[in-house]
Amino acid sequence: MCGISGAVGLNDISQALYEGIRNLEYRGYDSCGVALVNSKGLVLKKNIGGVEEFYRKENVLRHKSRIGIAHTRWATHGKVTRENTHPLSSSDGAFAVVHNGIISNYRFLREKLAREGFHFKSETDTEVIPHFLEYFYKKSKNVEAALAKTVEALEGSFALAFITSHQPDQIYCAKRESPLMLGISDEIKYLGSDFNAFIDHTKNAIIIDDGEYAVISRDSYTVKSLVTGQEIDKPIQKIEWDSESSKKGGYPHYMLKEIHEQPQTVNHALEIPASLTDDIVDLIVESDQTYLVGVGTTYYVAQFGQYIISNLAEEFLPAISADEFVALAKIDKGSMVLALSQSGETYDTLTALKYAKSKGAKTAAIVNVMGSSISRLVDKVVFQGSGPEICVISTKAALSQIVLLTVIGLKLALRKKLIGKKEFQKQIDQLKELPEIIHAVLNERSGFIHRIAHQYYKVKHWLYLGRGVYYPVALESALKMKEVAYVHAEGMPAGFLKHGTLAMIDQDIYSIVFVPPREDKELYQATLHSIEEIRARSGFVLGIHFDERGKNKDLFSEELILPPVSPLIAPLLQLVIAQLFAYFTATSLKRDVDKPRSLAKSVTVG
Ligand code: F6R
Repeated sequence: MCGISGAVGLNDISQALYEGIRNLEYRGYDSCGVALVNSKGLVLKKNIGGVEEFYRKENVLRHKSRIGIAHTRWATHGKVTRENTHPLSSSDGAFAVVHNGIISNYRFLREKLAREGFHFKSETDTEVIPHFLEYFYKKSKNVEAALAKTVEALEGSFALAFITSHQPDQIYCAKRESPLMLGISDEIKYLGSDFNAFIDHTKNAIIIDDGEYAVISRDSYTVKSLVTGQEIDKPIQKIEWDSESSKKGGYPHYMLKEIHEQPQTVNHALEIPASLTDDIVDLIVESDQTYLVGVGTTYYVAQFGQYIISNLAEEFLPAISADEFVALAKIDKGSMVLALSQSGETYDTLTALKYAKSKGAKTAAIVNVMGSSISRLVDKVVFQGSGPEICVISTKAALSQIVLLTVIGLKLALRKKLIGKKEFQKQIDQLKELPEIIHAVLNERSGFIHRIAHQYYKVKHWLYLGRGVYYPVALESALKMKEVAYVHAEGMPAGFLKHGTLAMIDQDIYSIVFVPPREDKELYQATLHSIEEIRARSGFVLGIHFDERGKNKDLFSEELILPPVSPLIAPLLQLVIAQLFAYFTATSLKRDVDKPRSLAKSVTVG
């Protein structure tokens, strides 16, 4: 939800801190702030707006310091105001705190502190933390003891960090459920919500686990248990991503860059060691019932998986939106939950997995971010290796997960002897063609998609329609349109239209229909039938299809023709096209593509 960054070194760290929160802006960007130390004590600078704007307006880099913490916020408790922006300080000004997560008992704690005479300047849940630190420090005169006592009072999730004038050479941080890690270099020790906070400076990271806290100074770091106070020996992990892959590389937006990176990310997914996907197949085979779980885009990825695995392996693995999982799924020791998550930090997905574990179920996940909470929670994890996905809107990570679910479906079909080795290899070879085809289509059709998107960018209502596996294509494509262009787009099974929605067809409702290749005969015919229903009511239809030009001349109002491909990869190619259509609509509407409103890259609250 928010991004935390920290740095302590021999010389000025202001620039490193600035880069840290700027690289974390995809986690939240409505306001930001820093706390530094100078000869007079703590200095707090904060305001609403994005990181660059804040640093420029407040001339923050003018303030030199060897130690500091910073925060970029995505508001959950309290409006977007300067007062609610982090860091938040204690009444005596001796503690400055940044926090990511939600303190669920904060109302109760505010009342308690108010009775002790503390005054609150913000509406946030976070402000109880600096006041408690002050309160407990006054009793023990020991910062670590005050931290342990404060954390004991907090319910909910947090990654928190603070600096204090009582120990001005050290940064303190602690974690429960929200992500936090240290970056270790000789000259500077870093702190971040994830690797992006310090990847430009060091690839050596220490992942802080739940119930741990750390104290970092210029030339040392210690990690301890919040409960026992005992020091914990933590291994240094090497980050495999490079900082170049986190940059825009000449593209105007990360979203466009990441759409264009899909040939590589699909290749990476296909190069993942076979034993990892075999392990998932083993778990599915051993379990009575497997559920596919994700939320937002990854729920739609789960829906792709549901159709693909049902079609290929004749096995029905229900896809459930993680936020509904506890209410819906019937879990016991014989169950297995396969979660999909780009960030590996999503609260709803973590909650579903924890619930499944508490019922004795087996768990597995396909995750992009190494060291993330989900990857450490599950019994088996597949790292999809898509590299950093910086744009808040998910594109390349989702497609890679769909490819991996297809591989799992094929392996399951082979295991169940529904297909032989030859057929298995043939289908894997078809998947291997996907990167080259995406590359060619992006090269050849981008201009045309741009033109169409610009022609129709003022359309206010889109229906996205597909049948079978093209239904999740419609759902995910509509989500792209909603979240990046803020345009109403509704994904729906095409067969559902005639049960009511057709009544809405008029000159203001535009439809996009994902037409399967002809070889998928029944689905193809049924989809054309739905198009006829719209056209009979003079509705507009943009068809995304694989027929040669002029084949169904009068059927479409507008058409986007793709080269003929196998039914296995056809829906995946259409998804890429729809991502691009949403992107160009958003640029025509002058939206903030990489940082769309009301969405954060990893939603770590419930
Ligand atoms: C869509 C989007 C969100 C995420 C969802 C799950 O573009 O970004 O819908 O897909 O919040 O996030 P992860 O995959 O990180 O668990």
